[in-house]
This record gives sequence, structure tokens and C-alpha cells, in this order.
Amino acid sequence: MVNPAPVTRASAWEALASHCQSLKAMHLRELFARDPRRAEHFSRELPDFLVDYSKHRVTEETLELLRALARACALPAWTAKMFAGELVNTTEHRAALHVALREPLGGSRKLGTVDISAEVDGVRQRMRKVSDDIRDGGWVGATGESIKDVVHIGIGGSLLGPQLAVEALTAYGHPRLSIHFLGNVDSAPVAALLSELDPARTLFIIASKTFATEETLTNADTARVWLETKLGSAAVPRHFMAVTANREGALAFGIAGDSIFEFWDWVGGRLSLWSSIGLPIAIAIGMDRFEEMLAGAHEMDRHFAETPLERNLPATLGLLAVWYNDFFGWGTHAVLPYDEGMRLLPAYLQQLEMESNGKSVTRDGTPVDCDTAPIVWGGTGTNSQHAFFQMLHQGTRIVPGDFIVAAQSGAPLPRHQDLLVANCFAQTEALMLGRTAAEVEGDLADLPDGERAALLPHRVFQGNRPSTTILVKRLDPRAFGMLLALYEHKVFVQGVIWGVNSFDQWGVELGKKLAKNIVPELDGESAREPHDVSTAGLIARYLDWR
Ligand code: F6P
Repeated sequence: MVNPAPVTRASAWEALASHCQSLKAMHLRELFARDPRRAEHFSRELPDFLVDYSKHRVTEETLELLRALARACALPAWTAKMFAGELVNTTEHRAALHVALREPLGGSRKLGTVDISAEVDGVRQRMRKVSDDIRDGGWVGATGESIKDVVHIGIGGSLLGPQLAVEALTAYGHPRLSIHFLGNVDSAPVAALLSELDPARTLFIIASKTFATEETLTNADTARVWLETKLGSAAVPRHFMAVTANREGALAFGIAGDSIFEFWDWVGGRLSLWSSIGLPIAIAIGMDRFEEMLAGAHEMDRHFAETPLERNLPATLGLLAVWYNDFFGWGTHAVLPYDEGMRLLPAYLQQLEMESNGKSVTRDGTPVDCDTAPIVWGGTGTNSQHAFFQMLHQGTRIVPGDFIVAAQSGAPLPRHQDLLVANCFAQTEALMLGRTAAEVEGDLADLPDGERAALLPHRVFQGNRPSTTILVKRLDPRAFGMLLALYEHKVFVQGVIWGVNSFDQWGVELGKKLAKNIVPELDGESAREPHDVSTAGLIARYLDWR
């Protein structure tokens, strides 16, 4: 199965390009005026989960053309291949079966001859046992005391998902337990955290799919030396666990076999929080809640796999992203959660989208001839309103954005939630409507003519700036799971349209390799390979200054 190569030659692509020219002049105000039921026509609701995409620069015709593009790129067939466990990660000859991690227990899924449902269920049962023990105080450290602090050490996909989930679901957290996250190899946060911890009551989880990531192993070593210094090396098995697809690596590090929680090469790092990588989530919120999160994601999986394109949320959002990225040429996308607990969502989605689709060649190795992954960025509302929203409203670049908000908050402070939600809705309305010169004239009617004329251009907003609003009833584990699965599939949809392999990440390897070359030089060895003069100069200056 191949996409028409290149995708830009597909007739659906050409039709979209010409449709875009005619739609560019159209203001969203006009689209809303033409169809009083636009919000209803351009939104979809799953239980307690509403996605409103009516404030997008599209008509029914646009969406039909985008769906024609999706069909031309065989999106339904690629979706079926992914769900069936075919080797959609073509460069690594692997399946991408994260959806298998959130199927109900007791399934019968096979990958080749392996009963992966049984493997997944087995690890989930072990996660339940250990997370219950830690939460109940039954898991004790080497001195017989219960655990109070859990330190999850990992990076990228082995960190961002668990950290985001634990923060987003704080309302469900365990009262005795604090969960900490160490990703960066920067010594300052490592030293600061260790200085606060009681070794007797601390448990480290070393999370690395490969168990070969330098930053993670360095942080893990530092943690182990710290613990050994305080409690002796015999204490290590009671205070260290590992989550990995490389059992041998974890054993070699000194983790006890029954404290190793496995996952598999068919789980991509950035898609792994549903696996044992989610252990800190299970510890924080309990395994029942963790399974609610899996069930929410599974609900979205079924929606994606079984719903026609016309009503399919991940497909619609993925196609809208392609629409702006490739036809309007707007190469960035803002993620704007109105929820402090979701402050890491932009970072999480940066990895999900940019590591997945930041590619320049199609699956068969030919160069793509359109733009792929947009730059994902963002921040929480309302803070971001007082930082970069000025540019969203009046800057020269147009940035489509996702506004994400819950109707009910975790804390019983309704006035706060009303204000938060009011701001969220007001921003999307303002971006869409803008403020015309005539309206501004009216606003400034009291000013003298000269002053009014001078101010007018500064006060006009073009509007016509698109956004999606995702409104959930409450951000509970189920809704959180649905939201992340929605984004996963949205990213997959874009990858299918661009014809890229969304499941590899060769681009991050070169930097890792070169860093490995430089480290010995910092220990006094001579360069293994010659550097360019800039890099050589920087190394020399570092050696001078350190
Ligand atoms: O550097 C990229 C990457 O390979 C990510 O894809 C991955 O999530 C991260 O590093 C961590 O890798 P590991 O879990 O093997 O330590």
C-alpha cells in the first residue's frame, strides 16, 4: 500500500489548493452569519467530551475535500494496519501497538505467535500489586519504613507522559506520597532534590525503554551512589525499580528481577505512558484510576477506528492541521490548556508531534515535497494571555490553536473556574471575531478626532484566526486518557497524509553519537574525530572555564 507519490500531485491536494484560494478571502464572521447552526454542524460530542471546531476556516466543502485527501492517502487502511499490529514502523520493522496497552483485561490479541494480551495483563497485574503495596505502606525500604517520596528518572517519552499525568491528575493523588521527576542531566535539580529526600523513605524508578540513555543512566547512577552512601549497597533492591524493554540492562544496573517492569519494542517511547512507564501514575492515583485512564484512551481508540471520517475526531483535527500547515502555510500550532495541572501538555505534544512527524522523507525514502510537522508550542491560560497572546491576536503570523478546558475544577472554588472558563471562551471568540474599524470607531467615539484616527490602526484586530475548543466535563483520568489518545491519533493522521513513518526518530541519534565522542575529550583524551573550528573552540573554552 503506497500513497500517491508525491501527495501534492493527488487530485484531492490540487482541489484543496484551489479551494484554499477562494476561501482565503472569507471571514469567519461571514461563515457564522451564513449558518446559524454552525457550532452544531462543526462540533462533535462524546460523553462529557466536546470538541468544537466551528471556529476554523472551513466549509463543509473544505472538510469533504480534506476527507477525499485522507481517502486518497489510504487513511482508513493505514489505521486498520496500525490497529492490526502490522509493521507500520517500517524503518525499525516494528508494530506500533500502543492501542493494545489500553484494551480491557482478558483480551486475546496476538503479535505473531506471542499472546501480547497475556503479557500486557501480566504487567498490569504486577503494577497493581506494587502500586497498592507502596500506597498502603506495605512496601517498605531497607530500614522498614514506608515510602514517602517516589523519584521517577527518565527522559523524553519515558518522562513527559507520566509527569504530565501525575500533575494533571493531582486531585486524585495519594496524600502521603510525593512523586518527583528527574529528566535533565543538569546537576542542579538532581542535587536540589536529593538534598530534600529521606533515603529511608525514597523509591527510585529508573524508566528507559533502551536502558541506554546517557542522561537517565547518569542520573540513576548518582541516585544509587547517594542511596548507597546513606544506607549501604544492600539497600538498593528495596529502593530501586526499573521500567524498560531491556531487562538485561536493568539487571546489570543492579535492579532486582522482580522489580523490573517490562514493556515491549512495539511500544514507541512517546506513546508509552499507557505501559509500565505509567507506574508512577498508578502509584500516585491508584491502579483503578490508572485503568480508568486506559479505558478513556480505549474509548477514543474505538471512536477513531470505527467512526466514519465525517464524524471522526482525530481524523478531523489531523486534517485541519494539514489544511493550515500545507495550504495556508501556517507552520506553528499553539496548545493552550486552561488548567495549571496541564502545564506540561505543550511539551508532551511537542515530542508527540515533532518527534513523530518531523521528517523530510516519505516511508519509501523519497523527499517529501510539502511541509510536515508544524512547530508545536504553547502555555497555560490565563498566564499566557499576559505573555504571548498579543502576537496571537495582532501579530503578522497566524497561529491556529487548541483551547482545552474543564467545566468542573478539582478545587471547590467556583469563582475561579468561572473566570478561567470565561477567559478561555473569550479568547477564542476574540481571535475569531476580531474588532473591525467601524467597531473601534464606536469604542473610541468619545475621543477627539485626531486622537481617534491615530489610535484606530492599533485597536483594529483582523480576527479570522482559527481555534479548536476542547471542553470536558471534568479532567478526570478517563477524560485525560481520551484527550491524549485523541492527539496520538491526530498525529498519526497527519503522518499518513504526508506519507512519513511517524514511529521512528532517527534525527535524534546523530547528536547523541556526537555527544558520546565529546565526553572523553572532557576527560583529557584527544578528539576521536576532528571537530569543526567552532565546536573545537567551544570545547577548549569549556575546559578553561569549568
Ligand atoms: O532521544 C529520543 C528518545 O529516543 C525518545 O524517543 C525516547 O522517548 C527518549 O529518547 C528516551 O529513551 P529511553 O526510554 O530509551 O531512555
